[in-house]
Amino acid sequence: MGKANISSINVNGKKVLCRVDFNVPLDGIEITDERRISEALPTLKSVLDRGGSLVLMSHLGRPEGKGFEQEFSLKPIADRLGSLLGRPVLFPSQDATDAAASAAVAALKPGEVLLLENVRFAKGEKKGEAEYAAKLAAYGDIYVNDAFGTAHREDGSMFAVPNAMKGKPRVAGLLLEKELKFLGDAIAKPAKPFIVVLGGAKVSDKIGVIENLLPKADAIIIGGAMAYTFLKALGRDVGTSKVEEDKVAEAKRLIDLAAKLKCDLHLPTDHVCSDSFSESGDLEVFKGDIKPGFMGLDIGPETQGKYAMVLRKAKTIVWNGPMGVFEMRPFSQGTQSVGRAIAEATKNGAVSIVGGGDSAAAVEKFGFADQMSHVSTGGGASLEMLSGKPFTTVALLD
Ligand code: 3PG
Ligand code: MG
Repeated sequence: MGKANISSINVNGKKVLCRVDFNVPLDGIEITDERRISEALPTLKSVLDRGGSLVLMSHLGRPEGKGFEQEFSLKPIADRLGSLLGRPVLFPSQDATDAAASAAVAALKPGEVLLLENVRFAKGEKKGEAEYAAKLAAYGDIYVNDAFGTAHREDGSMFAVPNAMKGKPRVAGLLLEKELKFLGDAIAKPAKPFIVVLGGAKVSDKIGVIENLLPKADAIIIGGAMAYTFLKALGRDVGTSKVEEDKVAEAKRLIDLAAKLKCDLHLPTDHVCSDSFSESGDLEVFKGDIKPGFMGLDIGPETQGKYAMVLRKAKTIVWNGPMGVFEMRPFSQGTQSVGRAIAEATKNGAVSIVGGGDSAAAVEKFGFADQMSHVSTGGGASLEMLSGKPFTTVALLD
């Protein structure tokens, strides 16, 4: 994609304004998955080690631009980042563009790091207001985008701010670059067989991905609740399984399109079911049709075996979305067996890419994360990329 990255820019004595995605899951002030912070460290260290200073900006959650709200504060992230970097992280104020923030930026010395408070506290962030963007733009001699997870959002700090910095270097961070490379190469020039694994609750989230990848992939493997919308489209009985009724026709269209393009679209042939959405209901495995009163909550053992066989031969694998309700033990086998098969394929030379969100959490939970070629920090962003949509926030970089 030919974007300049931060390593090629002289940062000595410069203030580097860096957009990161520190939108991490929190339980109170406890960070439950810090990958978005740890994965940004190479960029941050590259600047600090070469005599630059850092002004970091991020959003957290979805506050609606009505000023400071404690529950969306980045303070716990500032503290955690400080321990990961082994140096203090300044956190000057509750407003990214107030006088205290700009004074702290002005006083910043080489090797120092400052994290601005949640940019979504300002209404200008979502709206990309020029006056707001100009204030943030004035903080940096150099703009870096290392926020892959937010690449699909044209928020002020992603778009209006770098636009306001025309004439100054505006470059990709190392995480953004790595993500674009893994996902971009997988789509553009996959080693074959190229197998795509899709799961999760909703077909509607994945239609764009399926459409874009059907012509490129050798097979698409489907699991999770989204499988039941497809099975319903084929006229199967799916009991009380979750179905998106308004997407059944769409699912049928994708099945027909797959046949036309000669891409194998694999659907589960057996199902681990329960009579309630819980671990304590009556469990039963059904082949083919699901009995009335039961819902499918994981792919069955026969399907697990078939999917593993397809995956073992793959040379490129993209995985987004779990195969079942992996958070509940009785419905975690499908996701685990797919994870295991992908880990094996990777050991045998395949390139494997796991999309962020639930599938990243699953590979983390079952201990496969280190055995994948790449686990993305982007949820929505990785899906948009797999749908073939270009990012305007990336296009504007040098
Ligand atoms: C994400 O978690 O998907 C990104 O941080 C973007 O957040 P958003 O969906 O609230 O824009
Ligand atoms: Mg999101």
